[in-house]
Amino acid sequence: MLAPATDEPLEPIVWTPDMAVGIPEIDDEHATLVALYNDLVHALQRGASLFMNHSMMQSLLSYLSDHMDREEGYIRRHAFPDADAHFREHREVKVALRVLAAHPPDGEAAGPAARRLRGWVLHHILVSDRALFDHVRRSGGALSVPPASRGAHP
Ligand SMILES: [Fe+2]
Ligand SMILES: [Fe+2]
Repeated sequence: MLAPATDEPLEPIVWTPDMAVGIPEIDDEHATLVALYNDLVHALQRGASLFMNHSMMQSLLSYLSDHMDREEGYIRRHAFPDADAHFREHREVKVALRVLAAHPPDGEAAGPAARRLRGWVLHHILVSDRALFDHVRRSGGALSVPPASRGAHP
């Protein structure tokens, strides 16, 4: 499960250039993920309907799943040594988001889940994905993946 990072604030994530991993397609996707997360936070802060919370969690899950498929392509092509731990982090957040999307919490109950998600997103981009793409760049993989193979498992 996601770490119980309940000390995370329920507030948007501010995207800053130092969050970039240096591969434009991945950085663009991370910025979009942050924007989707922020939409969810804004909806929770203004007390949006359960339907709206559900719809935002589904959008986040769908975008995140495609993004992680793409990252896992990089992991396999570049033989990333910490592949298992990275796959595990991806699986954990997908399971947690699937549960949230299937039974979206309302009002106060949604806060702790969104805070844990915030902690996961920040840690994963700043630590785990950075380590992955440092490895990809070191192994000569800074070039973008051709669109035809995006999301495909080798
Ligand atoms: Fe990742
Ligand atoms: Fe990522």
